[in-house]
Amino acid sequence: MRRKIVAGNWKMNGSKDLVQQLVGSVRSEAESLDNGVEVVIIPPAIYVSDVVAQAGERLMVGVQNVGQWSSGAYTGEIAAGMAKDQGCTYALVGHSERRQLFGETDDEVAAKVESLVASGLVAVVCVGETLEQREAGRAEAVVAAQVKAALANMAADQWGRVVVAYEPVWAIGTGKTATAEDAQAMHASIRQVLAEMSAPAESISLLYGGSVKADNAAALFAEPDIDGGLIGGASLKADDFVSICQAMPASTTS
Ligand code: PGA
Repeated sequence: MRRKIVAGNWKMNGSKDLVQQLVGSVRSEAESLDNGVEVVIIPPAIYVSDVVAQAGERLMVGVQNVGQWSSGAYTGEIAAGMAKDQGCTYALVGHSERRQLFGETDDEVAAKVESLVASGLVAVVCVGETLEQREAGRAEAVVAAQVKAALANMAADQWGRVVVAYEPVWAIGTGKTATAEDAQAMHASIRQVLAEMSAPAESISLLYGGSVKADNAAALFAEPDIDGGLIGGASLKADDFVSICQAMPASTTS
């Protein structure tokens, strides 16, 4: 059975006030969800311990990035083990903003994934094509190459700590969402790539991200290979985020 996950990526947004307002109300709403969805909050790292303090048992917490090293003279970086130590369960890796704005390479993404899974965190590996790549008919090839590169070093017993998030770059923060059919097609293709890598593809959760909102989440989550969402903008408002969590059908995955 695949885990169903809705994760809120706050990006570089938030404050202690937002943590106070939002996390408590998301938690109390999440406590009454009966669709089995795992709800994850991924704030800026500096607020992780504030979120953990408010999260209770029901919400999971993650970080948006880690360095690939376990410790040392890397000013400004945080290690996977530190995120785990502070109560995180999840970490994003290879988000397109990291790839595009900070020049993160496939090799760095692979090294970070290794460090995360070795530390016992679940790595949410973000992949996705640009509009130019999609229009050139290369979307599936680009995404397949990203998946293979990021997960090249996985040991057979580590796949349980991997989630893949498909986030077409042209859909992030733009209000444009992939159609449920296009997203499903890419998710099926990613699952095929994982199977070719000898991963237990049927048990790996695949999330869709890119302008997921309360009004399009249900159609996306109804697709057989879409096991949840990675939510940016809409995760900053408790009502919107909770509505997206509620949009997960109880029987999406088997
Ligand atoms: P968005 O961001 O929901 O604001 O499009 C998604 C993401 O970048 O994870």
